[in-house]
Amino acid sequence: MIYMDNAATSMRKPKEVTSAVTRAMTSIGNAGRGVNDASLEAAREIYETRSLLARLFGVKDPKQIAFTSNSTMSLNMAIKGLLVPGDHVITTIQEHNSVLRPLYELEALGVSLSIVGADEKGKTTVDDIKKAIRHNTKYIITTHASNLTGNALPVAEIGALARENGLIYIVDASQSAGVLPLDVEAMKIDVLCFTGHKSLYGPQGTGGIYVSEQLKMRPLVVGGTGVQTFRHEQPPEMPTHLEAGTLNGHGIAGLKAGVTFVLERGVEAIRERELALAQMFRKGIADLPGIQLYGDFEEELRCPIVSFNVGDYDSGEVGDELLQEYGIITRTGGHCAPLLHKHFGTESRGMIRFSFSHFNTDEEVAKAITAIKIITTE
Ligand code: ALA
Repeated sequence: MIYMDNAATSMRKPKEVTSAVTRAMTSIGNAGRGVNDASLEAAREIYETRSLLARLFGVKDPKQIAFTSNSTMSLNMAIKGLLVPGDHVITTIQEHNSVLRPLYELEALGVSLSIVGADEKGKTTVDDIKKAIRHNTKYIITTHASNLTGNALPVAEIGALARENGLIYIVDASQSAGVLPLDVEAMKIDVLCFTGHKSLYGPQGTGGIYVSEQLKMRPLVVGGTGVQTFRHEQPPEMPTHLEAGTLNGHGIAGLKAGVTFVLERGVEAIRERELALAQMFRKGIADLPGIQLYGDFEEELRCPIVSFNVGDYDSGEVGDELLQEYGIITRTGGHCAPLLHKHFGTESRGMIRFSFSHFNTDEEVAKAITAIKIITTE
């Protein structure tokens, strides 16, 4: 089996991740629920993971990062915890349903929405966003990189634009955390939503949200925190404010090992390796008959994703053949990014997406190219 669906989830993890989860499952208690060794060990693991994530994302104070179960949860928290009727929000056609669906829900309650487009390669610029600013604009919400094309958005420029205009900038880093440079201070990002199970190589069910100290966010979920038991409201201090209930300590221990792996190798080195695999694949298939590629492959800063279609085939048919005949796992169909599909006219056939990780090899890429050669010429 050749696994090339790492934008959905990285399946091969560093061995340290699996051993960290196993170790945690037999040694840690419930963080913040006691002063016994097991509880303190859980609290230590969780605090160390927060600190490593803060280092990775340029966050000054680790307590401004709360753990969640994935980016979808973080994005729902941010969108539903900040926006109020009357606010105008700018977002883009690049977005995943984890951004669009919460926004559509709030649109029905009186939030107004501008969704900016993209060029023929699927790129959105800071000027596109600038033109959408109105007198009542409060927020800009964008992905850092498209899960469909791998194109990156100019988040530092968008952050600067947001700051100049007094707007709050929320970034979905689902595809970029661990692959693209991220520094919330330098990029003027007010809220960063990330998942642990993709390029941070952690277990599924891990993720988080960074919230700038200046922002007050209503919590999406309230409940037990292990502190201030007799208070009616959720404690206001971060990260407790956004962390009700027992945390996924076992998963977070695995995430710690994944983030350590990323920090030790370095985001730049990881990106170079993954992009080398992606470019090798793209160059190997670009000139084959009937191949239509989607995205801007000239950009240095992008995610290791190559999406395409073959002739008039439905993407699912090609994906099935890749799986049945060659044992290659990809993702096909709609990818939860409806507006970008509409932009490219691929709503009904979808796209075949290959996405690479640090653990893919040149040999696997060569086999994938051979498979596409046979499919396009048979
Ligand atoms: N959002 C994930 C993907 O792009 C699941 O496949």
